[in-house]
Amino acid sequence: MKITKICCIGAGYVGGPTMAVIAQKCPHIQVTVVDLNEQRIKDWNDPNTENIPIYEPGLSSVVAEARGRNLFFSTEVDKAIDEAEMIFISVNTPTKTYGKGKGMAADLKYIELCARQIARVAKQNKIVVEKSTLPVRTAEAIKSILDNTGNGVQFQILSNPEFLAEGTAVTDLLNPDRILIGGDTTPEGETAIKALVDVYANWVAEEKILTTNVWSSELSKLTANAFLAQRISSINAMSELCEKTGADVNEVAKAIGMDSRIGSKFLKASVGFGGSCFQKDILNLVYIAKSYGLNEVADYWEQVIVMNDHQKRRFSNKIVQTLYNTVADKKIAFLGWAFKKDTNDTRESAAIYVADDLINEQAKIAVYDPKVSEHKIVNDLDYLETRSGQDNKSAVVAFENAYDACKDAHAVAILTEWDEFASYDWKKIYDNMHKPAFVFDGRNILNAKELEEIGFVYQGIGS
Ligand code: NAD
Ligand code: UDX
Repeated sequence: MKITKICCIGAGYVGGPTMAVIAQKCPHIQVTVVDLNEQRIKDWNDPNTENIPIYEPGLSSVVAEARGRNLFFSTEVDKAIDEAEMIFISVNTPTKTYGKGKGMAADLKYIELCARQIARVAKQNKIVVEKSTLPVRTAEAIKSILDNTGNGVQFQILSNPEFLAEGTAVTDLLNPDRILIGGDTTPEGETAIKALVDVYANWVAEEKILTTNVWSSELSKLTANAFLAQRISSINAMSELCEKTGADVNEVAKAIGMDSRIGSKFLKASVGFGGSCFQKDILNLVYIAKSYGLNEVADYWEQVIVMNDHQKRRFSNKIVQTLYNTVADKKIAFLGWAFKKDTNDTRESAAIYVADDLINEQAKIAVYDPKVSEHKIVNDLDYLETRSGQDNKSAVVAFENAYDACKDAHAVAILTEWDEFASYDWKKIYDNMHKPAFVFDGRNILNAKELEEIGFVYQGIGS
């Protein structure tokens, strides 16, 4: 079966870049990305591709090449479902904020809506691909909805989790470590798997395309994120011990990372991991384990989150303690708000939690992030519901450049590892700050020795 038309439901951080790359690499396939959010679709269709809603290095030129040729962004969901042979579901699956499993389980209401919509609209057989990250055995629920509410047509469900990381989405999509496709082991299932393998085979070597049963594929995504996050919590746990013992976590990370069994990646101690995936997916895993009565398994993975919360809290506590146990009315400059560099995404960013703690201590937060607006920063704080929107607005101000953000500050805190922060004129920043001038480097990106020579009191993570 040759695919000629693809529809993707959800034009977010995954749907947008993934479909842009499929369209770029498969000019013979028409790719339509649909979303309920009209503004988001309008932004994807902005004549200037620099204004697309998601910032990712290299993405605007991929969109510029394919958009209007075989890549389309639209709000006409039914039409796109009707026309496509293959439908990707790439909607959000946040942690539930209500009811059973609140604060742990994945909220599957958007997934179910998609399944019901596909069932209602589809008049021909379709392959439905789970691109969203889902609890293991979700395909079963999707299949039941499709089969029970559909028009008698045949559906094949595939699981094809996405492993891209934000900030490197385009290169990750162009050169993936692997593509994972899970499907039924029936002849129809195998035909569906082959159809999706053929799409990726346009640019990915076949030996990198792994096929499994649906449940292994669904569970592998949660497992991959849990293992990655576990490495960060492990090194962050060591960072606290380093601070007590005179060891340096960067040196420890290098020393252990050179052991080929351990490997050097994902060992950067930090103020704590953020992003829309790690916490949500681990909580989801914990919830699934608990629901099978596997309490030790659940407790084991939950510690990754406990450690991460501790690391964020430890950072804000350190700022307060070092500033003579009071930050009331002191200006603390935050460099960075995004959860990592090269993205405008702030979901679950450590910066939000550190700011919230410091605002509780009545600090004034001044933020500079190259890609994040004041509106978004205040919204992120409002989402925590710690205080009124008005109080958040008066506690935090965003600046257009770092020098203005740091002027008259008592301390600078690095929350995101944007490359530009390391190249600043730190003497100029120092001259305009209150003394003693403190730097809390939550990403270990600055040169401690140089800053101390200027006169700063410098504290990194884990040394
Ligand atoms: P997102 O919030 O950026 O995008 C989801 C989009 O889906 C939104 O624009 C929303 O309006 C749209 N949507 C929701 N319900 C809809 C419906 N019924 N019809 C049409 N549109 C609908 O989310 P995201 O970051 O792209 O994540 C999507 C999924 O991919 C999640 O399951 C996530 O866990 C997974 N994932 C994310 C990443 C990442 O780095 N962000 C990486 C791998 C996997
Ligand atoms: C993650 C997974 O890496 C990706 O495979 C999956 O598809 C989605 O979730 P993402 O959240 O976009 O990707 O970014 P990632 O690079 O994993 O970083 C997550 C967080 O961990 C960031 O806050 C980052 O700063 C932090 N981090 C990462 C560290 O603190 N130390 C590290 O060594 C690596």
